[in-house]
Amino acid sequence: MTSNTKNKKYRFFNEDCISGCEKHIENDSVDLIITDPPYGIGGDKLDKHYNRDESHVIDGYVEVPSSIYPQFSEGWIKQAERILKPGGSIYIVSGYTNLVHILNALGKTRLEEKNHLIWKYNFGVYTKTKYISSHYHILFYTKRGKRHTFNTFSRYADHEKSDQGGSSNYSDREDVWLINREYKPGKIKNKNELPTQLLIKLIQYSSNQGDLICDFFLGSFSTAKVAKGLNREVVGFELNKGAFEHQIREFDSLDEGYLLDQLRKPPENQFVNSGKPISEYDQEQISKSHIIHLNRGMSKAQSIETLSEKFGRGYWSILRIIDRSVNVNVANVFDSQVEMKISE
Ligand SMILES: C[S@@+](CC[C@H](N)C(=O)[O-])C[C@H]1O[C@@H](n2cnc3c(N)ncnc32)[C@H](O)[C@@H]1O
Repeated sequence: MTSNTKNKKYRFFNEDCISGCEKHIENDSVDLIITDPPYGIGGDKLDKHYNRDESHVIDGYVEVPSSIYPQFSEGWIKQAERILKPGGSIYIVSGYTNLVHILNALGKTRLEEKNHLIWKYNFGVYTKTKYISSHYHILFYTKRGKRHTFNTFSRYADHEKSDQGGSSNYSDREDVWLINREYKPGKIKNKNELPTQLLIKLIQYSSNQGDLICDFFLGSFSTAKVAKGLNREVVGFELNKGAFEHQIREFDSLDEGYLLDQLRKPPENQFVNSGKPISEYDQEQISKSHIIHLNRGMSKAQSIETLSEKFGRGYWSILRIIDRSVNVNVANVFDSQVEMKISE
């Protein structure tokens, strides 16, 4: 079953994701996969586990028995690798119970690990005799063969400062994310819906408008809905018929690009040379000027700020260059001492 059959932008199948993917999705055709597989911990008992009111949760969540979790993970992750374009990215959300099987399955592919993100949420699983579990893992991998999309400045420009005075871009790209789950009292929902803000962030960094996004486990279609809201195309699978039929109607009622107006518009980058290759001559100039600055009594931070403005490059890139030159100088001094000892 497909939403908008005439419109090939959105294709959804009420089918098993492994056989469905084999049947419907071509090799090297998907830009980004964001997916949240069943956790193999008895999804139908999650309400007791999390002490939640599940009266509006759609029945029929399909769980995967933990005994077959390894083979199941290998099956769909192999398909994910096949359909990703070279340079395409995949994010897999996982609890820790079966994380090892997801990691093992990824290890059997040629996908390249980029990050292991931690998503911390509010209201974890309440336990009395051990620590409270309140995070998920998000594994970020890419397919080799082409440079992957990573829109470094899509949310914060290089020079923007947070309230604490640090770089907003740096803190937005740290690998621990605090994003609350959404509560939708009285609304029909799926278990474990991913929050819109989390999905917006992944999609902004790792895709562009018009790209094709795939979700192997649509659940409430949360990835699909955000993708449509950000003008991306979508393909996906969900076995639960009740959820599928309800959510496809909700999906169809949303306008394309409905989230675009809400996105923060970062100012232009100040560091115009950020991300561009740097010549050896410029590196030498930066190192020499830094030594002159220090001799004139400037602090390291003041010197970096001045050089950053002059060379149109961010703080960290200047820091890397001067630290590298200090190491080279130390190594040179060390080498010449060794040479002296040998000749003595
Ligand atoms: C953790 S939930 C996904 C939640 C989703 N990300 C959301 O935000 O609502 C996993 C979903 O996978 C579905 N599922 C389980 N096995 C499947 C399979 N083999 N193929 C397709 N969907 C499956 C379950 O019914 C469930 O809705």
